[in-house]
Amino acid sequence: MASPALLLLLLLPFALFSQTLAQTPAAPAPSPPGPINLTGILSQGGQFSTFIRLLNQSRLIIQLDNQLNNSQGEGLTILAPTDNGFNALESGALNSLDDQQKSQLLLYHVLPKFYTLTELQTISNPVRTQAGDWGLNFTGQANSNQVNVSTGVVTVPINNKLREQSPLSVFVVDKVLLPEALFGNHTAAPPPKAPAPGADKAPVDGETPPKSDAAKPPANDKGAAARNGVGLGLILSFGLIVISVVS
Ligand SMILES: *[C@@H]1O[C@H](CO)[C@@H](O)[C@H](O)[C@H]1NC(C)=O
Ligand SMILES: *[C@@H]1O[C@H](CO)[C@@H](O)[C@H](O)[C@H]1NC(C)=O
Ligand SMILES: *[C@@H]1O[C@H](CO)[C@@H](O)[C@H](O)[C@H]1NC(C)=O
Ligand SMILES: *[C@@H]1O[C@H](CO)[C@@H](O)[C@H](O)[C@H]1NC(C)=O
Ligand SMILES: *[C@@H]1O[C@H](CO)[C@@H](O)[C@H](O)[C@H]1NC(C)=O
Ligand SMILES: *[C@@H]1O[C@H](CO)[C@@H](O)[C@H](O)[C@H]1NC(C)=O
Repeated sequence: MASPALLLLLLLPFALFSQTLAQTPAAPAPSPPGPINLTGILSQGGQFSTFIRLLNQSRLIIQLDNQLNNSQGEGLTILAPTDNGFNALESGALNSLDDQQKSQLLLYHVLPKFYTLTELQTISNPVRTQAGDWGLNFTGQANSNQVNVSTGVVTVPINNKLREQSPLSVFVVDKVLLPEALFGNHTAAPPPKAPAPGADKAPVDGETPPKSDAAKPPANDKGAAARNGVGLGLILSFGLIVISVVS
């Protein structure tokens, strides 16, 4: 008589083998050199979920992806605040802003041009952002690879780069860059004077709802294939057991 342990030993290799077989066809598809996926790049950083959520909610993510996909453009440099940076804000700081001001705040983290960190070390201030008139100041020491960025309200070192390849740089900041116009000493924040380039965000033809759930079937197919594979393994093992028990 075959003991349960022996059965298990016999079954295991087949189960594993058939799993491997079933998964081989679903091997990683080589990513095509298509448009840059900003959400994808930020997700890989693993610490930008608030920034991603806000960009997505405001639909600015669509505008930025389009800008990156525009071969005539100059690219973008994004100073991405970490989740810790957002958590460190005074409670209610974001909620006190209306939608337009939130968009301005986000666009204040975007420079409408691709820069390397080395370029930012010696750039002349203030540097234009995508939030219209609101500039940022960069101070660095040549050869030290160290750059601080200042809004007048906060100063924070750029301590990491997520990406530095034309047309997109993404640098990490541990604080939200609070613009003086919204978070300066005067509590009653005056709205920004001129409509910034961001005013044409949320393109009207962007109204089509995102079809995030469109590409789900492959997962099911894979599951079915794996199940079939396991089934085959079981049948083979059973045959072997029968043979070994009989002989
Ligand atoms: C971009 O990446 C995100 C996260 O990896 C993914 O959910 C989304 O479908 C991607 N978008 C496009 C257009 O590829
Ligand atoms: C973006 O927002 C849409 C709804 O507006 C939502 O379905 C989607 O899950 C969001 N994506 C991310 C990455 O937050
Ligand atoms: C990117 O730009 C190309 C050429 O301008 C266009 O055909 C394509 O649809 C754009 N892709 C996205 C995701 O916007
Ligand atoms: C950046 O700021 C920190 C603290 O505010 C300061 O100690 C450091 O010298 C600054 N670095 C540069 C390159 O300005
Ligand atoms: C930025 O630098 C400019 C020119 O050096 C200066 O006039 C301005 O006050 C600075 N602004 C901030 C927010 O540091
Ligand atoms: C803010 O205002 C207080 C007094 O109301 C003043 O002492 C302080 O220097 C101001 N800070 C800035 C950054 O202007």
